[in-house]
Amino acid sequence: MNAFRMLVLGGDGVGPEVIEQALRVGRWIAGRHTRAIEFFEEPYGLSAFQSQGEILPARTLAAARETDAILFGAIGGDYAGVPVAQRREGSVLRLRRELVLFANLRPVQYWPALAASCPLRPEVATGTDIALVRENVGGLYFGQPRGIETLPDGRREAVNTLRYASDEIERVARFAFELARSRGARVCSVDKSNVLEAGVLWRQTVAALHVRDYADVALTHMLVDNCAMQLVRDPRQFDVIVTDNMFGDILSDGGGAVAGSLGMLPSASLGALQADGRRRALYEPVHGSAPDIEGKGIANPIGAILSLALALRHSVGDEAAAARVERAVTRALESGARTADIAAPGEAVIGSTAMGDAVLAALQADSGPRS
Ligand code: IPM
Ligand code: MG
Repeated sequence: MNAFRMLVLGGDGVGPEVIEQALRVGRWIAGRHTRAIEFFEEPYGLSAFQSQGEILPARTLAAARETDAILFGAIGGDYAGVPVAQRREGSVLRLRRELVLFANLRPVQYWPALAASCPLRPEVATGTDIALVRENVGGLYFGQPRGIETLPDGRREAVNTLRYASDEIERVARFAFELARSRGARVCSVDKSNVLEAGVLWRQTVAALHVRDYADVALTHMLVDNCAMQLVRDPRQFDVIVTDNMFGDILSDGGGAVAGSLGMLPSASLGALQADGRRRALYEPVHGSAPDIEGKGIANPIGAILSLALALRHSVGDEAAAARVERAVTRALESGARTADIAAPGEAVIGSTAMGDAVLAALQADSGPRS
């Protein structure tokens, strides 16, 4: 079998720092525990703009189209010197859209080892394991018309458009139902159908698909404002959540509170299943570029390492390797490894590389799941 090809785009801010640690884990596990994986890098982000005049050089975009999967750090920072059109052209939003990565999977789990730094009480959060599925290439983020105009009377007016066609809703809902079948078989569809027509169509489309193809999965509907409360009031009630682009962006940051820190959250942006069984895929930590701590070596690499685990599961197709990386993260946390974002008062704090060391040590010591 040919090596699996993984394009690495470190990007901006803490992106390259956290990806470096994910790569150490990836290089350790690839070939040893799973099929061979070839990691290759291409320029992307501010550094690409400085050296080549483009945030997303054509060669990088071509590689993104060709590769089996993308491991992505972060983008964002001091873009003041970059023309607005370039910024939009090079953004991760463009990559998601160009590659039609319509399903954004953002798992949220509670980590007992982080109880002291999680704002939720253990009796509320213990056992939480949510697969949040965010529609990733439509809705308010991309709807036309959009822009800021000056009105005849001199006032300025901003316009964004929330637009969803039924097939766009259906494909992400189908992904959520399929995923639910591999887990707790429950889907909660989240919308704002009491106010927005886009929410009415969202609910109708998900309900119709459910009756037609997924009657074996339990489906509930929830309004997004209620969901924001339920996520922190009783997160265990959820198995799979499916929602639109804007709501998914907001609710997934709420998930960061459940996990103890945004730095813990991984994500997978996935495209349609192709005839050969593969799908386009981009894996990235949810936390973003965090320019305030860039270059200090203190960013939490766990979101990136868990994103690599998602790549092993959903693109490489190696569940055992994915589970092994996730176990190693759990055990590193149990052994007391804490970056600043997940340290409770009084706990010793380590940097990104030392956290990578702790995860690698746990990987090496791993002798399988606990019974
Ligand atoms: C995320 C981020 C991005 C988004 C930003 C950086 C454009 O917040 O991935 O959640 O809004 O999708
Ligand atoms: Mg966000």
